[in-house]
Amino acid sequence: MVEIRDVERLVLPRLGTGLRWSDRALAWAALSHGATQKTHELRGLIGLLKRHRPLACVVEIGTASGGTFFAWCQLAEPRATLVSIDLPGGEFGGGYSEHHVERLRTYARRGQETHFLRADSHDLATRRELQHILASTPIDFLMIDGDHSYEGVRSDFEMYGPLVRPGGLIAFHDVLHHDRVPECQVDRFWNEIRHAYRHWEFLKPEHDAGWGTWGGIGVLESLQGPFAPSSDSSARRPAVRAVNHHRPPPLTGGHAAAAVVEKAARS
Ligand SMILES: C[S@@+](CC[C@H](N)C(=O)[O-])C[C@H]1O[C@@H](n2cnc3c(N)ncnc32)[C@H](O)[C@@H]1O
Repeated sequence: MVEIRDVERLVLPRLGTGLRWSDRALAWAALSHGATQKTHELRGLIGLLKRHRPLACVVEIGTASGGTFFAWCQLAEPRATLVSIDLPGGEFGGGYSEHHVERLRTYARRGQETHFLRADSHDLATRRELQHILASTPIDFLMIDGDHSYEGVRSDFEMYGPLVRPGGLIAFHDVLHHDRVPECQVDRFWNEIRHAYRHWEFLKPEHDAGWGTWGGIGVLESLQGPFAPSSDSSARRPAVRAVNHHRPPPLTGGHAAAAVVEKAARS
């Protein structure tokens, strides 16, 4: 017997650009594909991504079951490149197996290119591999939902934020304070940097399903990426210099530190 979920997973993604999901239906579909998200919050992000085009290059750090990756495939352009980075056995979800990669590949729509890096996002070799895949293509949307420790989320922002084009979006999941998971400190980092950028928050703290406060999506608009528009890919600036454009604040944090980010990002 054909199940609705199979139709949704196997048939709808192949209908191509004509398919228009409502924000709500796509958020719901992401959750039915295993996304660890709140429907209302994800709806908000989906709506924002529909307005911020193009979405030709998407990178997600932290994919787990692939529910959010499914949503990005639906939202991205028909010939988009989508890359997932996830550490097998990683904290905060556990990653996915080689076997599951085959399932995740089916989420791509016809013409889209997907890559799955089962690796530590903090490893420089992982970023090098990503840069090799992207060549000179800047990222339009970066989802940071991997290592939720303060140092972990900061490192992902420092290492991958510079690969996002100016005007591109960087989203963080779990920007709400987690009472019951002290090691989750995305909120601390988010509150240090968000004021330096045009940003959005999609928060439904009251929808906690009895887990205590969790979730919350914060999104910022990237100020400056490393890739100057150029037809010559060899003109790409070295990543290490680009990282400085998004230098995060010192560990002491606060608004003064956010100003440092803004200055660094605009320099
Ligand atoms: C909360 S889950 C991602 C959830 C997914 N985005 C969703 O909404 O359904 C976090 C994922 O990050 C991965 N992760 C943790 N630390 C990582 C690291 N250093 N590098 C790459 N992935 C990491 C975990 O393996 C886990 O699968």
